[in-house]
Amino acid sequence: MKILAIAGSPRRGGNTDTLLDQTIAGARSAGAEVEHIILSRLKIAPCIECNHCFETGRCVVKDDHQLLYDKTLEADGIMLASPIFFMNVSAQTKAFIDRFQCLWALRNVLKLPVPLPPAGAKRRAIFLSTAGWSKTKFDCTLSVVRAFLTTIEAKLVGTLCINGIDDKGEVEQHPEMLEQAYALGVQLASTDEAARSL
Ligand SMILES: Cc1cc2nc3c(=O)[nH]c(=O)nc-3n(C[C@H](O)[C@H](O)[C@H](O)COP(=O)(O)O)c2cc1C
Repeated sequence: MKILAIAGSPRRGGNTDTLLDQTIAGARSAGAEVEHIILSRLKIAPCIECNHCFETGRCVVKDDHQLLYDKTLEADGIMLASPIFFMNVSAQTKAFIDRFQCLWALRNVLKLPVPLPPAGAKRRAIFLSTAGWSKTKFDCTLSVVRAFLTTIEAKLVGTLCINGIDDKGEVEQHPEMLEQAYALGVQLASTDEAARSL
């Protein structure tokens, strides 16, 4: 199983990075091949709403998103990790998501199917997030993530969203959350039906 793990925080070694590292370790322990992508190291311009993709289903903006588009379509599993910035995903993550407007166009304008991964089963995905304020709710962000996953034909099979975690490294003081992140990785990578639906 091929998994694409996408780190959406601009803060390297921060809370969502730490959770994602655990999730990756869990998936690798279950035998998955995981590619770790750090969005802040890539050049991904925001969508320019030129609507060229309405004719072709592909984005005309040439930057690192082209590579991620191919990798996303080849993946059986997606791990997306982003901190909460103003009640939403980070700008890096949002630009990554918005550029999949080309797949939205493929489905909804051109009425063509979004290609399934080579193994033929529907993609599965998990989402990890932390927020600094203890009362932050994740519903707005999860709506964004669900819209993205619908567009890339992936089913959301697990989330780990933790509020009240602000300083860099703070999540490491919560070993039970690291364990949950690891277990989510195992679950995503599992080919066993019972374990997959935990
Ligand atoms: C620009 C910015 C906006 C933020 N907005 C929110 C917010 O709306 N709600 C919240 O609870 N925390 C907010 N935070 C705090 C982060 O979500 C929190 O520190 C998170 O744990 C950072 O994760 P990271 O270390 O993976 O980047 C914000 C932080 C930044 C830098």
